Amino acid sequence: MPGRLIVSDHPLVQEKLALLRDRRTTPAGFRCAMETASALMGCEALRGLRTKVRSVPTPLKRARAVALDQSITLVAVLRAGLGMLGGLLDLAPAARIGHIGLYRNEETLNPVRYYVRLPPDLKDSFLVLCDPMLATGGSAAEALRIVKTDGARQIALLCIIASRAGVRRVHSAHPDVPIYTAGLDPRLDRKGYILPGLGDAGDRLFAT
Ligand code: PRP
Ligand code: URA
Repeated sequence: MPGRLIVSDHPLVQEKLALLRDRRTTPAGFRCAMETASALMGCEALRGLRTKVRSVPTPLKRARAVALDQSITLVAVLRAGLGMLGGLLDLAPAARIGHIGLYRNEETLNPVRYYVRLPPDLKDSFLVLCDPMLATGGSAAEALRIVKTDGARQIALLCIIASRAGVRRVHSAHPDVPIYTAGLDPRLDRKGYILPGLGDAGDRLFAT
């Protein structure tokens, strides 16, 4: 199955992406733009949520209505994925949250795992993996392997900027996982940073 890549062309997402890329944006502005972009793209990523029909009483009559028939699990790849959670929780306050701690070895660029804590029963949940930067794709591919090993079956990967190489790597290891992104950039530098990118997402979020 060929992997799906969805690059948002929504003007509000693109405006937030411009703020995120701009080195003059403050950490507060950066956090805010990341939350809003994540919420806007999250709407699309969650389009496949299972629903059921119910009815609600309006002041005049009963109306046919829709209820969600599936839990949502948001999994943040630490640290930078934390910056995406607020916007997604505005959409889905009842979502369950998982955390996967990975950092990149500076020499090899391979992901090193240091923390995993996931909610139970991922099998029937719609899982959104949140990591703003898809650079070599190593971290996302490893995080997807971890959530699948724990049972997740319906998964979307939400990022802010993806590189072409990262998309290829994730699609080749996980062709069933659609990738939603605000930007698709052509290259990586020798340290594995996305060009033109936005710099180090974790450092800009947390002002480190
Ligand atoms: C960043 C980013 C991704 C990863 C992407 O994390 O948040 O998780 O790099 O790179 P990759 O696609 O080449 O694996 P980093 O390792 O810098 O950790 P941090 O978020 O804690 O700063
Ligand atoms: N991680 C980041 O934060 N930025 C990049 O460009 C690549 C990996």
